[in-house]
Amino acid sequence: MEGEGEMTYRESIEKAGSSLMRFPVIPVRGIPLMKLIANNFDDIWAFRPDPSDLLIATYPKAGTTWTQEIVDLLLHNGDAEACRRAPTPVRSPFLEIVSPPPIPSGLDLLRTMDPPRVIKTHLPFQLVPLGFWENKCKTIYVARNAKDNLVSYYYFDLMNMTQPEPGPFDGYVTKFMQGELSWGSWYDHVKGYWEEREKKNILYLFYEDMKENPRREVVRIMKYLDLSVSDEVIDRIVDLTSFKKMKENPMANYSCVPSPVFDQTISPFMRKGEVGDWQNHFSAEQSKMFDEDYEKQMKGSNIPFRTLI
Ligand code: A3P
Repeated sequence: MEGEGEMTYRESIEKAGSSLMRFPVIPVRGIPLMKLIANNFDDIWAFRPDPSDLLIATYPKAGTTWTQEIVDLLLHNGDAEACRRAPTPVRSPFLEIVSPPPIPSGLDLLRTMDPPRVIKTHLPFQLVPLGFWENKCKTIYVARNAKDNLVSYYYFDLMNMTQPEPGPFDGYVTKFMQGELSWGSWYDHVKGYWEEREKKNILYLFYEDMKENPRREVVRIMKYLDLSVSDEVIDRIVDLTSFKKMKENPMANYSCVPSPVFDQTISPFMRKGEVGDWQNHFSAEQSKMFDEDYEKQMKGSNIPFRTLI
């Protein structure tokens, strides 16, 4: 029933109330993860996907929700109503997320769904349950320029009361460079999937390419999924997944999460959706220091990130 998924999901978060506030992070095999995820990691690691399941993997704030919406629309031949059946995290469960009851964890939701499922993860490559690779599941990875990714994550940590306090921006930049944020090092994350993309048949996308030519990237995703939709449907999908349309879509803009948890008055989930916003946040000095460190951390990597200067 339309909207039913939204109500039950929203109500479960409302019921969880103050137990959702600002979880600490705990390392799992060296990767800082939210405490509840860390405590349940054995169950997450044991998850067995179906070969027909699709994994969408990203470092947080790289364009996950956008990609989930494109994929859902492709799978439903551009049917906007079908893709409003429930909010994003219900349509496309977040594999490792564990929240206090009664909020369903990603694994609980997945158990209620028949394959093929579209599964979201922020886990770095080495923490993705091995079943995904053993079963040759298709995987879409989206990477975003480091500085824009950092800025987006900073605003997210300000408004998402389940994440550790971001603190001042300067210290946040240091934490990002040192891999101390939830889900760990951005550098290791983007490199980890890049190095495996050919062996594991991973479609490796860039947020900046999606912004530059969304139609081209929608077509790439369609082909990767062995789907064939008409030109007209592709145009519709591009339109429905524009930043403006998704910001207005209650099933895509995370308004399903009540304000004590995602306080969208601090920063909306659909914040700016632009390339190069880091220039409004980094000082010249911060940028120089970041670039020097970036050179070292990305040395030897040939990932074609754009230099956004
Ligand atoms: P900003 O904070 O820079 O605006 P994720 O879904 O991985 O959490 O990523 C969220 C980021 O992607 C946010 O970036 C959000 O605005 C942006 N985003 C979401 N949908 C988008 C769209 N349709 N087009 C462009 N950017 C989008």
